[in-house]
Amino acid sequence: SAPIRLGIAGLGTVGIGVVKIIQKHAELLSARCGCEIVISAVSARDRRKNRDADVSGYAWVDDPLELAARDDVDVFVELIGGDHGVAREAVELALKTGKDVVTANKALLAMHGQELAELAEEQGRVIRFEAAVAGGIPVIKTMTESLAGNRISRIMGVMNGTCNYILTRMESAGLPYETVFDEARRLGYLEADPQLDVGGIDAAHKLAILSSIAFGTRVAFDGVEIEGIERISIDDIHRAADMGYRIKLLGVAQMTARGLEQRMSPCLVPADSPLGQLQGGTNMVVIEADSVGQLVLRGAGAGEGPTASAVMSDIVELARKVRVPVFGQPAGSLTRAQPARTAVP
Ligand code: NDP
Ligand code: HSE
Repeated sequence: SAPIRLGIAGLGTVGIGVVKIIQKHAELLSARCGCEIVISAVSARDRRKNRDADVSGYAWVDDPLELAARDDVDVFVELIGGDHGVAREAVELALKTGKDVVTANKALLAMHGQELAELAEEQGRVIRFEAAVAGGIPVIKTMTESLAGNRISRIMGVMNGTCNYILTRMESAGLPYETVFDEARRLGYLEADPQLDVGGIDAAHKLAILSSIAFGTRVAFDGVEIEGIERISIDDIHRAADMGYRIKLLGVAQMTARGLEQRMSPCLVPADSPLGQLQGGTNMVVIEADSVGQLVLRGAGAGEGPTASAVMSDIVELARKVRVPVFGQPAGSLTRAQPARTAVP
């Protein structure tokens, strides 16, 4: 079959992780997709920067907008970040110029997911974002596919690896905030603006995306009550531990008689509970639904490998739907085997 051709914008922690998987698993991916996955071109801010993978074999484009509009790109992979500016413009342009989009950008989706999903629908394209919530945990596909026969009543969980890392390392290693913060940065957990992490905003973005999918509502980031971990001191952590508890930045979303309630705040959880046992950058999402009951998903919520793994699941999903052009079409043109679906309800 014709290859699926990617344009990757952003070669940081996640972008380089994706390049590495495509290079390492080329044969495996071809076998699984029924076609080759090819990187046509890449883009980042600084062409001269040393990167942890060889990108010299791909066309380099300074401007992500130019990458989004290229004819040799079928899927635009946005791994730049930010809820406005170049990431948003490039995603819009990619959809308008006939590309499907894969992104890990929860800020963009929480703020503009609705408009982007509508634009994708108008254009007969799709936008996929498995990596945007809880890193390597396949929570979006679990909700949209595996739980399609359920009515979800509640979602709850730890959805920010940085905060969990900071809170658990401060307690277990007795290290000061600044030291564990630097460790989290080295592990590739932090947002470009780490205030989004410690302020609870990044986790709230994720909760808003999950709520929208779970309850079929518009993405309502403005409706999330948010409190971050900045005011949690080592004394608070020790006092909680003395009483048999741990402090976790916990998100809860549920549909009530008063409407959708969404809250992201530091909570006390029993130290010996599954949530209390979560260490480092691990995330946990608990879904309660009518037929399946309670489902607990746990795994790495941030960092290069886990996040790139989730991005790849979207790329593979799109690659599997691409089929060889029907007889008589120009070589290289790609058609969809299935009609496009709106990603964010
Ligand atoms: P990084 O900061 O590591 O990488 C960002 C990349 O975007 C860099 O390659 C940078 O270029 C490039 N870039 C920034 N601005 C521009 C611009 N104006 N034009 C072109 N390129 C630009 O971010 P991450 O890889 O960590 O995150 C990427 C996305 O994935 C974000 O949306 C983030 O929220 C999301 N995400 C991240 C996770 C993680 O664990 N890190 C987990 C889940 C989602 P250069 O390298 O030249 O500076
Ligand atoms: N900064 C985010 C975190 C990255 O720490 O969870 C994963 O979304």
